[in-house]
Amino acid sequence: MTVKITPEQIAEQRRFMTLFQALPDRPRTYYIVTYGCQMNAHDSEKLAGMLDEMGMELSPAREEADFVLHNTCCIRDNAERKALGNVTWLKELKKERPGLMIGVCGCMVRESGMAEKLLRQYPFVDVAFGTSNIYRLPELLYKAAESRSRVVAVEQEQSTLIEGLPIRRESPYQAYVTIMYGCNNYCTYCIVPYVRGRERSRSAGDILRDIERLAQSGVQEIMLLGQNVNSYGKDLEGGLSFAQLLHEAGQTGIPRIRFMTSHPKDLTDELIDEIAQNPAVLRHFHLPAQSGSDRILKAMNRHYTVDQYLDRVARLRQAVPDIGITTDLIVGFPGETEEDFEATLRLADTVRYDSAFTFIYSPRVGTAAAKYPDQVPAEVSARRIDRLIKLQEKHTAIALNGMIGSEVSVLVTDRSKRDETMLTGKCGRNISVNFAGTPEDIGKVLNVKITSAGKTTLRGEKMEVSA
Ligand code: 5AD
Ligand code: SF4
Repeated sequence: MTVKITPEQIAEQRRFMTLFQALPDRPRTYYIVTYGCQMNAHDSEKLAGMLDEMGMELSPAREEADFVLHNTCCIRDNAERKALGNVTWLKELKKERPGLMIGVCGCMVRESGMAEKLLRQYPFVDVAFGTSNIYRLPELLYKAAESRSRVVAVEQEQSTLIEGLPIRRESPYQAYVTIMYGCNNYCTYCIVPYVRGRERSRSAGDILRDIERLAQSGVQEIMLLGQNVNSYGKDLEGGLSFAQLLHEAGQTGIPRIRFMTSHPKDLTDELIDEIAQNPAVLRHFHLPAQSGSDRILKAMNRHYTVDQYLDRVARLRQAVPDIGITTDLIVGFPGETEEDFEATLRLADTVRYDSAFTFIYSPRVGTAAAKYPDQVPAEVSARRIDRLIKLQEKHTAIALNGMIGSEVSVLVTDRSKRDETMLTGKCGRNISVNFAGTPEDIGKVLNVKITSAGKTTLRGEKMEVSA
């Protein structure tokens, strides 16, 4: 069930923010550990925004904070193990500093059986809440701090349209903008629809207002976020399509627009044409293929064949010749034979992705595929992913070397970690570019001529005229 969070509920949370500040022994500093995808990174910005308004200060180190909040991911088993390991690590610190408060939130908390596990096996966790209860952080933390007892709030319902919350944005130049929550696709391996619920689109008016404000405050680049942005608006009556939303976003004055993630089955010609015509939309498309075998794609419930996927790629490249395509690929899905895997290698060879996120299938409790027979042995999956990574490295080298001599526009975000005299940023194709420059260039969009290619990054020289 989806419930709409009302302005009154947000006002109530503001009341808890004030009450919290009157507590004598309240935690004064916080630290957020974020796992997983951009959606989680953005949720953490919202959590931080609320903690700031509760009068708390961001601590420079986890070890020093009075309240450590873990915003968790459960997409694969290793993400979950890492989060639980880090929570357990704090248990020792709490023995030395009993006032330390520990929080766990996000996707993992919504997983079947996890709330009980947290209650039973993690008695040192003070606050726990799921993805739909993020907006209730002020209330839950207040109650836990006031009563010095545990507060666990795991919701059954899905909340939607949480507008009007403060956000502590990580960067003054780049910003995430959520356009929709949840996912309706039920790919058989994936836990997301269970922990983030059904698709709920934000209204175009709210989204565009956010983007306009960001543009006015000097943000250079936005990333529109959704589990499946291509189906944006389908749940709204008379709403805009994703292509129309992109068009409107392009009119707000924001210089650069990215978006993530797209499902190949919903990639329309309308969207491709909009990307081709919209100068603000950057030339990068993340198009998860997952597998190159029709049999496996069917078992994954992906609703496309390899030919249909390749048709979308061809159409995209024909309309936007300079576009860089990246993907997600899973190996070792139940029943995947050597032949199926070879088909995935063939797909990668045909498309020649700029880069690919490659994953070993991880069974998730409650998903359909976890119950499938023929689970692939770990050593077979390990061998397959090695081969796939090697092939992708070759393709990345081809893509990067092919860019030598070209001119790209880069949003400069930082100094290079390795060399203080070098700056770094991403080009439209989402590849890191390093070049010599001064700190005053940080936050600007500059033209850079590519001179050489490393394994995953490019090197270049700043051009005289800025973009
Ligand atoms: N095992 C391995 N990879 C997964 N992904 C999602 N669920 C699983 C799983 N159970 C991958 C998919 C998806 C990306 C975000 O994570 O490739 O696109
Ligand atoms: Fe998971 Fe599939 Fe939805 Fe992506 S589209 S979040 S892989 S169910």
